[in-house]
Amino acid sequence: MADVEKGPQLADIQTDEDVRQLVYTFYDKVRADALLGPVFEKAIGSDWEPHLQIMCNFWSTMLLYSGKYRGDPMSKHMSLPIDPQHFSQWLALFTATLDSLFKGEVADNAKARANNIARIMQSMLGFPLNNK
Ligand code: HEM
Repeated sequence: MADVEKGPQLADIQTDEDVRQLVYTFYDKVRADALLGPVFEKAIGSDWEPHLQIMCNFWSTMLLYSGKYRGDPMSKHMSLPIDPQHFSQWLALFTATLDSLFKGEVADNAKARANNIARIMQSMLGFPLNNK
């Protein structure tokens, strides 16, 4: 009964189609975001398909262990004009996207992986890690 009040039952991330839904929904939010949108527009330009495909491969590898992504995410972020505020916003949008679409161990893993990578990126960019 209590579940009815929480809205529709959400399933976990299980397939590449699920990953695709996560990635496309997340980047729709990112592009519309006042803080993050301009950073991405400047780096990516008008053709988002290649970036979205890379991100699908990345999350497919992180979450479904497909091995489709072979790249170096860290180096791509070293020259971007980003600070801890951008990371907080990125993580807030990513978490909100996950929570609206999926529920379960893999979805939880996605949040944990994103948080960890964001922490490593911030430390590599020279920002102190005071948000545990
Ligand atoms: C401040 C937050 C972030 C911003 C503004 C940001 C922005 C970007 C941009 C603009 C690119 C494209 C770079 C290029 O092609 O030249 C990119 C690529 C990428 N980002 Fe982020 N990012 C952020 C955080 C993250 C986080 C937390 C993750 C991982 C969980 C991540 C994973 C990746 C990956 C995998 C790529 C593709 C790298 C490749 O081409 O192999 N990003 N990001």
